[in-house]
Amino acid sequence: MLVFDKNGELFLEHVKISDIAEFYGTSTYIYSKKKIIDNFYSYKNYSKFKKMIICFACKTNSNRSILNILASLGAGADTTSGGEIYRCINAGFNPNKIVYAGVGKTKDEIEYALKNNIFMFNVESLEELETIDNTAGKLGVKARISFRINPDVDPDTHSYIVTGKKGTKFGIPYEEAENAYLIANTKKNIKIAGIHFHIGSQITNIKPFELAAKKIKKIVDIIEKNKIKISYVNCGGGLGIQYSKTSVSSEEILTPKLLIDTMFTIFNDKTLIFEPGRSIMANAGYLLTKVIYRKNIINNNKRFIIVDAGMNDLIRPALYGAYHDIIPVKNHGNNLKNNVLTDIVGPICENSDFIGKDRILPVLSQNDLLLVTCAGAYGSAMSSTYNSRPLLAEVLVDNDSLILIRKRGNYSDLTSNEIYLKKRINK
Ligand code: LLP
Repeated sequence: MLVFDKNGELFLEHVKISDIAEFYGTSTYIYSKKKIIDNFYSYKNYSKFKKMIICFACKTNSNRSILNILASLGAGADTTSGGEIYRCINAGFNPNKIVYAGVGKTKDEIEYALKNNIFMFNVESLEELETIDNTAGKLGVKARISFRINPDVDPDTHSYIVTGKKGTKFGIPYEEAENAYLIANTKKNIKIAGIHFHIGSQITNIKPFELAAKKIKKIVDIIEKNKIKISYVNCGGGLGIQYSKTSVSSEEILTPKLLIDTMFTIFNDKTLIFEPGRSIMANAGYLLTKVIYRKNIINNNKRFIIVDAGMNDLIRPALYGAYHDIIPVKNHGNNLKNNVLTDIVGPICENSDFIGKDRILPVLSQNDLLLVTCAGAYGSAMSSTYNSRPLLAEVLVDNDSLILIRKRGNYSDLTSNEIYLKKRINK
């Protein structure tokens, strides 16, 4: 938890945020181990009473130390590439708790997954089914599968992260589901284990989940009438979180409990799989950044604060217009007199390079530290070296200790994989 002490110093658990800047520099991703564990238990607590598997969506944050924390709590993993399967196995996940979704699994990736005996493929097309069947046949193994069904439900979220509506590339269309299962049932190297749906991300209302589940339940009944057993129903991820402490009241936020209860009411005799990502990692992570320069725009009555984190480090504001609260690390108290309308922008050569726009913030000085909240999900995982900016350091706060879990990249990392066709330069 973040708290200011009586001297106005900001702490995460028992670690002073300004110490992190001093020891590891800025910008830096910071994670709270306690918050990750608490968030995971907000799902896992219910597994005492229900038959369920919680597969952490590792696309959210794939740092191996973070993955290892979740693996050691008994989580399974939701993966979308051979690389993610590699990371998860490497971080200690039990392969028979790894599920694998994605519309474009290549033959090599499928082979890699089969050789590692993962739990289940979430199959997204009949051509993919064919490739899995052939590859499993060559390896002399059986592949366990679910079909990912697109239930055609509007999850009411940003259009880029809608996945369960007709017209998106995901899953098998609702109307073709029965046929897909009948075909899969004839394949020699395929074992049908379940059904999967994932309708989108950052969903803050239970209704779309409920609607999708009811549609999927109808399909389950039809498939089972064909004497095909569906043992697992994978309800995907998607649970939204509260990004702004001010704009949404806590009552409106969907809880894991409500989601789990709703799904078990609909699928009471099944083992359910959940694939949470954001709701485990987002509010367990922060991006610590530092003010480099300030500019005033006199006519607009606004100022720019230029910080050392850019859209390459946190792309969510640029890509989705996402909102993240930004907190000055120095406590400015309740004196709002000098607060100014501020855009917090990065050093990248694009107008889309901003962390926050039109924020009311106190007067800031050069070298002041700012903390961007809810940055633990799809922050570091989506970062790049655009503008040849090395990847950031990542640290884990565990009670009063501070542990480096990724070294800051350096300039030579930027070119380390490049093949240098050196030409003589004629002066
Ligand atoms: N399962 C599947 C099949 C998924 O595609 C995803 C996320 C999840 C689970 C986890 O969903 P979550 O619980 O995190 O909502 N980069 C975007 C979000 C992309 C979500 C992609 N799929 C963002 O920063 O908002």
